[in-house]
Amino acid sequence: GGAGLLIPALSSEAQAQATDIDPTTIPKFAQEMPVPETLKPDRISGTTAYYSFEMQEVETEIIPGKQTTVRTFDGHFPGPWIKACSGHRVVVTQKNNLPSPTSIHLHGGHVPESSDGTPMDLIQPGGEKTYTYPNSQPNANLWFHDHAHHVESENVFRGLTGFYTLMDLPEKALGLPSGAYDLPIAIRDARFDDNGQLIYQMNDFRGRNVILANGKAWPYFEVAARKYRFRLYNTANMRFFTLKLSDGSTVQQIGGDGGLLEAPVTTDKISITSGERADVVIDFSKYPVGTNVEIVNTENVPAGVPPTPVLQFRVTRTAADYSKVPAKLRTLPALPAPTVNRNVVLRVDENSADGMGYIDEKVYDHTRVDNTIKYGDTEVWTVSNVNQRVPHNFHIHLVQFRVLERNGVPVTSGPETGLKDTVRLMPGEKIKVQATFTGYRGKYVYHCHMFDHAAMGMMATMEVV
Ligand code: C2O
Ligand code: CU
Repeated sequence: GGAGLLIPALSSEAQAQATDIDPTTIPKFAQEMPVPETLKPDRISGTTAYYSFEMQEVETEIIPGKQTTVRTFDGHFPGPWIKACSGHRVVVTQKNNLPSPTSIHLHGGHVPESSDGTPMDLIQPGGEKTYTYPNSQPNANLWFHDHAHHVESENVFRGLTGFYTLMDLPEKALGLPSGAYDLPIAIRDARFDDNGQLIYQMNDFRGRNVILANGKAWPYFEVAARKYRFRLYNTANMRFFTLKLSDGSTVQQIGGDGGLLEAPVTTDKISITSGERADVVIDFSKYPVGTNVEIVNTENVPAGVPPTPVLQFRVTRTAADYSKVPAKLRTLPALPAPTVNRNVVLRVDENSADGMGYIDEKVYDHTRVDNTIKYGDTEVWTVSNVNQRVPHNFHIHLVQFRVLERNGVPVTSGPETGLKDTVRLMPGEKIKVQATFTGYRGKYVYHCHMFDHAAMGMMATMEVV
């Protein structure tokens, strides 16, 4: 395969000898969670907004009192936040001043191949590339991250992610919480040495035991006693989150990967696998000022063990609230009749730490086309995780898809009824997803979105012709 091409030696090996920080020594809820910085374009011409970023390493405080070197867009950790409008183009020039090649992918974006950030479309150190995003899709919770073949996993782990909110007028008219009451939160895990530097090792699920929200370890966030809209992003390489409020309260999930759901879902748990998003409204108006309530993660926590904290909300004030969550948020397009069925099988080597990953029993090779799709066709893909113990998820570039079935049961309610680009597959699970391939022709990838698995080869190429 192409796994060795143009790839520098990973910088992590020497560091793997370092001693891990003891996570219990990191104070909980001692730092304030930042709101990602919304960037103004460098210039606007007609309906196109132009941005430029320099990918660079900077030092930042993730753990109180320690400096950590991270890889960033323009020094932002968490990443910068681009707000774009449906129908208005965004052009981003990315200059690479990192010690690694990069390729910047707009996750969930409907974009031409030349701007998709495919794994071998590399920006070498010192180089730059301009990406054009037509934004010819409705409201969506997108993000951008490195996708350079075999090094995306380390680059993302070291910070190379950013937020991209695509808004449209029908969404605006709904009156959902907005302005300071609408913000993205990137939730992930990480591993640190006792100097506060990140330790990256491939497929290192167990080592990554510090949880970050918007780039801080276990932060707090002060809120008013009113409704907030949080766009939750799972930017962890491999960890899945099933999030709950510590008092068991319900929240309203209003959207996911591909924007708003048809109707809000009232739920006491929010599931996001690596790369997935959940758009959630939490109403703090029932809490007296002075109340603290945490987001906790219940995924992979054995029965009887308390769930692990993520983030603490502190209700510190009251505020007027004219926002609402309408009972009807959107009408999704009717599902066209599919004309093609395919099977996709996901697997990693379960019994060796440095195993390979496979789609349809093949390791990713960028020179190979694995599926040819006729432009305009509607296809149903039956995707199976044949592993016994390892979860996966599944992400397709270019399209937003619909989940038809999970383990033979039609998906008719809940957050998976929305437009999706990434979907969970626990060991042994099988799902059916449907997508219509329009807009652009060309080669795009689909893969497990656990970045370490993708880097281990769990990725394939489709060509829309
Ligand atoms: Cu978020 Cu192909 O990736
Ligand atoms: Cu996987």
